[in-house]
Amino acid sequence: MPLVTSKEMLQKAYDGGYAIGAFNVNNMEIIQGITEAAKELNAPLILQVSSGARKYANHTYLMKLVEAALIETNLPICLHLDHGDTFELCKSCVDGGFTSVMIDGSHYSFEENIKLTKQVVDYAHDHGVTVEGELGRLAGIEDDVKVSAEDSSYTRPEEVEEFVGRTGVDSLAIAIGTSHGAYKFKPGTKPQLRFDILEEVSKRLPGFPIVLHGASSVIPEYVEMINQYGGDMPGALGVPEDQLRKAASMAVCKINIDSDLRLAMTGTIRKYFAEHPDHFDPRQYLKPARENIKKMVAHKIVDVLGCAGKA
Ligand code: G3H
Ligand code: 13P
Ligand code: ZN
Repeated sequence: MPLVTSKEMLQKAYDGGYAIGAFNVNNMEIIQGITEAAKELNAPLILQVSSGARKYANHTYLMKLVEAALIETNLPICLHLDHGDTFELCKSCVDGGFTSVMIDGSHYSFEENIKLTKQVVDYAHDHGVTVEGELGRLAGIEDDVKVSAEDSSYTRPEEVEEFVGRTGVDSLAIAIGTSHGAYKFKPGTKPQLRFDILEEVSKRLPGFPIVLHGASSVIPEYVEMINQYGGDMPGALGVPEDQLRKAASMAVCKINIDSDLRLAMTGTIRKYFAEHPDHFDPRQYLKPARENIKKMVAHKIVDVLGCAGKA
């Protein structure tokens, strides 16, 4: 099966009340772990590549690895650019065979965001590629989480119809309290997403797919594994999985997960070396890392996203 755009899979997810997992990929073992889980569970997939991942692994290597995953799984897979920040980067991914791109103009003014996003949409749609835009700003991992600062970064529902109407985007990422990385909420506080904003956005955009970035739950099992084997990640805290399930049952059709992959991989490798300090064959420690990525992704597909059997 060739790569697919996100159009049909997100629409089906909207209608079915579930979400598609958009997993960040950087190398072969990560791609294998994710796609083996999806194959066993017959789940549609979005594999996403950040500009950093593309620089790290090289466009051609990533394309060929994803091509191999298509052959091995025969699943509907969408290859998506994560957080494209310029027209040129989006164009390069469209020209290079990606089937979906994100243009993240969320740090620009409303008008500049619209202008840049529309430029990408015009080019991408001419080439049969879908586009995700973003309105509202997620906190960065280093940001102080103060309520007033947070408030100013939430998506303003009154802007979404104009943004979608004027740009023609196929999906919209919104900010409802998530953030990137492993430290999403202050330790000791109760994480709570702003479902009131999500509801208001979806009322204004009926039938339109919404995207949730920064949606790792920062699985405690892997944080503990890192801390137990020489790491130091006190206070790491993610989005509770029951809130992700609720978002997936609402208008959220694409849930972005990167940090949970990193934690599963790093925790497993740390444990492996603690138990086998004399080993030095990369296959020995990458194999259990790949297995735990597969296990973690299977858990997301079944217990969080609800997309098992939807391929
Ligand atoms: O949202 C960001 C993703 O986690 C990708 O991170 O730019 O370090 O590859 P990266
Ligand atoms: P996490 O850091 O929560 O995994 O978010 C990833 C993401 O949003 C990629 O775009
Ligand atoms: Zn993101």
